[in-house]
Amino acid sequence: MLQLLFCLSYFVILSSAVSRENFKTCEQSGFCKRNRAMQPGQSPYIALVDSLQVQANSLNIQLLNKNNNVRLKLEVFGLQDNMFRVKINELSPIKERYEIPVGDSLIEEPKLHNINLSQKDKDKVVFTMDSNKVVMSVEPFRMDIYSNEDPVISINAQGLMKFEHYRKKESWLSTTGSSLFSWFTNPFREAPPAENEEEKPEGEEKKEEENAAETKTEEEPDMWEETFKTFTDSKPHGPSSVGIDVSFPGFEDVYGIPEHADTMALKTTKTTDPYRLFNLDVFEYELYNPMALYGAVPLMYAHNEMRTVGIFWHNAAETWIDISSNTADKSVFSHIADFVKGNNEIPQTDTHWFSESGVIDIFILLGPTPSNVFKQYARLTGTTPLPPLYSIAYHQCRWNYNDQDDVKSVDANFDKYDLPYDVIWLDIEHTDGKKYFTWAHEKFPHPEEMIKNLSVKGRKLVTIVDPHLKREDGYSVYTDARDKGYLVKNKDGNDYDGWCWPGSSSWPDFTNAEVREWWTGKFSLSEYKGSTPDLIVWNDMNEPSVFNGPEITFHKDVKHMNGFENRDLHNIYGLYVHQATMEGLLRRSGGKERSFVLTRAFFAGSQRHSAVWTGDNIGEWSHLKVSIPMVLSLNLAGITFSGADVGGFFKNPEHELITRWYQTGVFYPFLRAHAHLDTKRREPYLLPEEHMNIIREALRLRYSLLPYWYTLFYQAEQDGLPIFRPLWVDYPKNKEVFRMDDQFLLGSSILAKPITDQGTTNTNVYFPGRHDIWYDIETYEVYDGGVTKNVAAPLDKIPVYQKGGSIIPRKLRPRRSSSLMYQDPFTLIVCLDQQGSAKGELYLDDYHTFQYRNGEYLLREFTFNNNNLSSKNIDPTGQFNTREWIEKIIIVGYPKNPLNISIKNFSGENSKRLDHKYNSEEKSLTIRKPGVNIADVWTITIE
Ligand code: NOJ
Repeated sequence: MLQLLFCLSYFVILSSAVSRENFKTCEQSGFCKRNRAMQPGQSPYIALVDSLQVQANSLNIQLLNKNNNVRLKLEVFGLQDNMFRVKINELSPIKERYEIPVGDSLIEEPKLHNINLSQKDKDKVVFTMDSNKVVMSVEPFRMDIYSNEDPVISINAQGLMKFEHYRKKESWLSTTGSSLFSWFTNPFREAPPAENEEEKPEGEEKKEEENAAETKTEEEPDMWEETFKTFTDSKPHGPSSVGIDVSFPGFEDVYGIPEHADTMALKTTKTTDPYRLFNLDVFEYELYNPMALYGAVPLMYAHNEMRTVGIFWHNAAETWIDISSNTADKSVFSHIADFVKGNNEIPQTDTHWFSESGVIDIFILLGPTPSNVFKQYARLTGTTPLPPLYSIAYHQCRWNYNDQDDVKSVDANFDKYDLPYDVIWLDIEHTDGKKYFTWAHEKFPHPEEMIKNLSVKGRKLVTIVDPHLKREDGYSVYTDARDKGYLVKNKDGNDYDGWCWPGSSSWPDFTNAEVREWWTGKFSLSEYKGSTPDLIVWNDMNEPSVFNGPEITFHKDVKHMNGFENRDLHNIYGLYVHQATMEGLLRRSGGKERSFVLTRAFFAGSQRHSAVWTGDNIGEWSHLKVSIPMVLSLNLAGITFSGADVGGFFKNPEHELITRWYQTGVFYPFLRAHAHLDTKRREPYLLPEEHMNIIREALRLRYSLLPYWYTLFYQAEQDGLPIFRPLWVDYPKNKEVFRMDDQFLLGSSILAKPITDQGTTNTNVYFPGRHDIWYDIETYEVYDGGVTKNVAAPLDKIPVYQKGGSIIPRKLRPRRSSSLMYQDPFTLIVCLDQQGSAKGELYLDDYHTFQYRNGEYLLREFTFNNNNLSSKNIDPTGQFNTREWIEKIIIVGYPKNPLNISIKNFSGENSKRLDHKYNSEEKSLTIRKPGVNIADVWTITIE
């Protein structure tokens, strides 16, 4: 009954807009308030030059807080690939401060690089790394980083650094300056401190006043206990926040720090709360504000026409980020650029980062190009391994497909209406009472048979596996975890008991590697009854979502292993869940098959294990629109494999909106339609014919482009570049595109501007690149780069363009699923640039195993120059036998009908004449049946 009531109340919450009051504002968060109250120009920190120690790749020095005499240890490391790392911790903490274990967010201990000390005196320490220079000012402590003599990043230039050292609760007694204040505010006071009668030298008194003031702000009541709504956070270790400011002189635009439902270019927070990073389950989230959502990547890039730099704040505790800008805010803050160059016209963005606990650990990515910073971040936290082909095709989801017959009928209808799809998903109702790894037997009596019926068509089944375990004696996953002591504990040391879908639940402590190992075993075919190798998994609610917890999540004083609290590591919990899940699925095939996991919660490094979606959006136009900047921001932060629920999760979108959403969604790297339990069925075949036909075309476009997508994913595994990318990544010097987030590039060769406004039948498209040209992918109409053009976009039209100078391999035969396309032939779409040239790559392998890591793949390059189109292998380590061949070549932008076309196949027979057709209106030349295997080396000559 209680359970029912609880779920009902959850539904009430679900059916209304975001309940803002469930989530803290900065004013309601003690450490946010304390850090935000820091005033520029009053930093108490000084660097103690005498303590400086210099090694080949690093230096360390003590920092002293003059107000409380606490000493900190600052370490600066030179890193390979043009990066620095700046770490600040307590010199002698009374309790170990949490640091994210290496291997969890960072892939490994970053490789060091030589630095050289070039100056050390009482005011300054200066050192260099290649063409970078770091100037450390001693009093107050600050660091200014220069690249080729240009200031690019400053740390603590505003003096907002704050490091709340661990202390004993009664420590107020020993702090002279603050003792009186502490005595008044401390409920455990004994006697007032004795007054110091001695006369103080001039100036000293003022210092002490300042000290008292500093300590006054430190000794607020919520430092040792904090209440939000009815929840009291016991804070057994007291205040522990860390914060510092990071300025970007010369930069107006900053990006990153997902996840927020906001524009891609971040906004100043002068009149709002800071951007918040705290993994939370927020229903019907509001748009264009800095509230926290399900995941957190504390990574920010700053970009201008000259360079791109970035910082990665390696901290998994709740984090807030303030942003201000001298151009947007006309702020009066000190500007490092002004300081250096004496020029107040130089734009500058100032950011202020603060986390509730942990250490200050900042990676400084010095670019200088966009692709450099992405590679640098990839060096630190890794890239997304090449996904199996089916996972980048179309996924059909709903909460819920009710039973086996329902699954069968949806599957059959997709076939009946010639709609391609690869994966059908089962939400929580497929389980027996929300006990994951079980089946509701009356609805799903023969799951293996059900999956096999999908497998024959090359399709897969996803089941949802959430991390909350129903506390029921007969549920072995729970009792096993309980008996092994694997569950997260509450502050008293008992198993934490919270409410989620099953009612009373507990959560495995995924931060513990032993627990993760245990969890991976649950996915073996023998343990997960009813599963087959074609069952893959979705992790939801892993922030974690706790319906009766503060802010719908764990209490902050929940205990994890090694005495750490959820407060220390909250944002990485969800990563551990999906990491262990992926590991379980990989083990199931003995590491042979690639697999797939979708996660809602994420952290820096999640990209190595899972795809991410943007959670519970709404079937409204505004949510369709914001999905583009949201997926762009995820891609910038390394989470390339991401997308939003197509159609919107809540509410019933009208047909036009669903249709436009598919036209946008086919460009999300992760493409899934999903809908809430209470919504009307909206599978594409249920829509009016006009809409269904348009959706079919959109899905076919996605499937025909799978070879291009697959190549992009392969490249992204190598270099960490975003797949779904903002225009500035490819056009870094074009200021016009720096804030553009309603159109995007897919790789370098496709530009799209899907329609996201109701009733719109035309739109302005900006075509980037003054020397580039773009071709409409359907009509081959040409558009010059560097201009904005109004284009027609009736309901059946997606404004999508291929770049002149690119060659895109496609597979044009419509199929029911991607695995049925494995052997299908390619069509090469060659779009010529203004010089009549083009180039493109194709990656292929068996599309599902890890054999590509043993060299079983092909990386081909196609080039068109001087009327010759040729194909060659560009990676000799990759060899792969395939029956895939080239059936057609379309050369777009070709000026005239040629007389003769022949092919010389170096792998086999000699020169052969080829059929062709020329369309003078489109200026397209179609070459039929070159008939060469994709692995062959050949040249086609046009005369
Ligand atoms: C919340 C998820 O965001 C949503 O996608 C899912 O359908 C429900 N949980 C039920 O599992």
